[in-house]
Amino acid sequence: MTTPASPADTYAAVGEFHDLFMDEAWGRLVPTLARAFGALDAEATVLDSGAGSGVGTRRLAGATRASVIAVEPSVTMRSALLARVVGVPALTDRVSVIAGAAPAVLRQLGSLVDGALDGFVCAHVLGHLGEADRAATLAALAGGLAPGGRGVITLPPPSDAGPGAPGPDDGWEILEERVIGRHRYVSRRAVDGATGRMVSTYEMWEGERLVRGQEERSGWSLPPLEEFIRELDRAGLAVEEVIAGAAIVRRR
Ligand SMILES: C[S@@+](CC[C@H](N)C(=O)[O-])C[C@H]1O[C@@H](n2cnc3c(N)ncnc32)[C@H](O)[C@@H]1O
Repeated sequence: MTTPASPADTYAAVGEFHDLFMDEAWGRLVPTLARAFGALDAEATVLDSGAGSGVGTRRLAGATRASVIAVEPSVTMRSALLARVVGVPALTDRVSVIAGAAPAVLRQLGSLVDGALDGFVCAHVLGHLGEADRAATLAALAGGLAPGGRGVITLPPPSDAGPGAPGPDDGWEILEERVIGRHRYVSRRAVDGATGRMVSTYEMWEGERLVRGQEERSGWSLPPLEEFIRELDRAGLAVEEVIAGAAIVRRR
């Protein structure tokens, strides 16, 4: 049995740096996960679509008693995800890891879960998908939800400038720095003015010496918040609540 074909592993180059800069984002999301999924029982199932390295999957499992199905296309990220799950009985009992990319993998929801989903999480993922794949993914997630089921989707910021925004030449925004041992890791990002897509760089410094740097141009792009909410609506998802940059959604 072979792993189904998945798109190029865009995280092969930068996946190692991913978790260094996710604490704040996931710290904000935990109360939202608890609100959306905290009442589910152990018979329920929540899908984590684009689970990445599992930095959020672990928090999701901590916020609910439901089983978690974590879907992730990148072998780099999936390796970290599986490694994160394996040593922890509270996770190995409940978290299943699937290789695959949305929307294709979601068409097989029936073989992934018994019955409909009680919830899903789609966090920091949809900007990697083009408009058509995003629409198909949202529609599949909406269609897979049981009545009363809820989803948590991270939202673009209201000020998302989109195409025409300042490009890298106009200045990089330093997002965060982390010190690990003798190294300082720096994450920066900018919007490429020509394409409107996000460019991220990661650097590892030892003192004043740049040990190495890595740029990611896989492209992250989402429409402005108002248009994104319309996309959710067209896919059959109604926003129930917006908390700290994420929407709790229900099937319309
Ligand atoms: C920024 S990471 C976020 C990971 C995780 N959700 C989190 O918030 O920590 C984006 C993840 O989306 C995954 N991804 C990209 N395209 C995808 C697709 N079509 N379907 C599912 N996941 C995808 C990437 O491989 C990567 O692991």
